[in-house]
Amino acid sequence: MPTSSLAKIGVLTGGGDAPGLNAVIRAVVKTATNAGISVLGLEDSFDGLIYPEKSRLLTPRDVTGILRLGGTILGTVNRGDPFAEQIVTPIGTFDYADRVMEMFQKMGLDALVCIGGDGTLAISYEFYKKGIPLVGVPKTIDNDIYGTTSCFGFDTAVSFATDAIDRLHTTAEAHRRIMIVEVMGRNAGWIALHAGVAGGADVILIPEIPYDLAKVSECVRRRDEKGARFSIVVVAEGARPKGGSVSLIEAAHDGHVERLGGAAMACATALEKLTGKETRYVVLGHLQRGGVPTAFDRTLATRFGGKAVELLLKGQFGKMVANHPPDIVPVPLGEVVGRQKLVPLDYDLVLTARALGVSFGD
Ligand code: F6P
Repeated sequence: MPTSSLAKIGVLTGGGDAPGLNAVIRAVVKTATNAGISVLGLEDSFDGLIYPEKSRLLTPRDVTGILRLGGTILGTVNRGDPFAEQIVTPIGTFDYADRVMEMFQKMGLDALVCIGGDGTLAISYEFYKKGIPLVGVPKTIDNDIYGTTSCFGFDTAVSFATDAIDRLHTTAEAHRRIMIVEVMGRNAGWIALHAGVAGGADVILIPEIPYDLAKVSECVRRRDEKGARFSIVVVAEGARPKGGSVSLIEAAHDGHVERLGGAAMACATALEKLTGKETRYVVLGHLQRGGVPTAFDRTLATRFGGKAVELLLKGQFGKMVANHPPDIVPVPLGEVVGRQKLVPLDYDLVLTARALGVSFGD
C-alpha cells in the first residue's frame, strides 16, 4: 500500500440492501486500519453526515464476524433526490446537500467509500463534483449496474431463486400444474435468466424480450404432448407483454421510483384461461435479498472493499470499483451513472437457453 495523506474516511451504504454489504464494510475497515486510516461508519446512507448521532468509529473489532451476515450494520435508506430536499434539525433548517458538504468538513473526513446501487452512485457522483473525494462500490442483486460484469448480491439472489425453482418442480410435477415464479431484477432480466436456466425452467420471461402468452401456452401444450404435463415459468418482475406495460404495485412519486410487482399473477390468470391447466404462482420478493451471502458474493464484496481503499490511497477519486474478470478495476463514475446494463439479446445464455428449447414467449 502507498503511504497516504488520508487520516480518516467515512463509509456508507445506500439504496436497497444486498447480501455482501457487510463484507465490503469489513474489507474497508480492515484494509484502511492496516494502512493507518481510521474509519467512520455513517448510518442510513448520507444521513450519517447530517445527524451527529448517526455515525460511529469502526475498528476491526467492530467488523469481526460480519462477513457472513446479510443486510448492513450501517443501515440504509432508499431515498428520493437529496439535492431537492430540505432537512429540519434541532439547530435549524438546511438544504440537504449543503449540509452534507459542511458536515463532511466538520467531521474531519478526508474521503468517502459509498456503497450502493445506481441511485446512490448517482448521488455520490454529484457530491464528488461538489468536492467530496470518494470512491463508489456497486451493489445490487439486479446485476444491472453499467460498467461492471457483476455485483455482489446477484449470485446469492440467483442461488436462492434457483433453490425455489427446484422446490416448485416437484410440486408442479406431482399436480401436473403450471407453476409461475416471479423474481426481482427491476428493468433487467439477469436474475430471471440465470435462475431460470440454473433451475431448468421451461419458460423465462424477461423485460428485454416482451412476451406473448399465446406463445407460452403453445410451449406448455407441446410439453404436455410429449408427456411432461407440467411446466415451470420464471417471470421477471419487470417483464411485460408485447404492446403492454409492466405490472406495478405503486407508481413513481416524489422522487421515489415505481414499485414493480404482479407480473406472475397476471400471467397465471391469463395462462390458466389459455391452457385450461391449473396454474399457481409464487412471488419470491425480498427473500431474494435476505440471508447469508454466497462464497462468490463474499469474495467479490471483499475485493471491492479492498480495491476501494486502494483507490483512495492512490488519490483516484470519482471512480467506481468494477469487476472485469480477472481484475477489479476503476471505472469513472461519470461513465456509469444514468446508464443501465440490460441483458443483450445475443447474450450466450439467452442463445443457449433457446437452443435447449426454453421459450422466452416471443
Ligand atoms: O434493486 C433491488 C430491488 O430488490 C429490485 O429488484 C426491486 O424491484 C426493488 O429493489 C424493491 O425495492 P424495495 O425494497 O424498495 O421494495
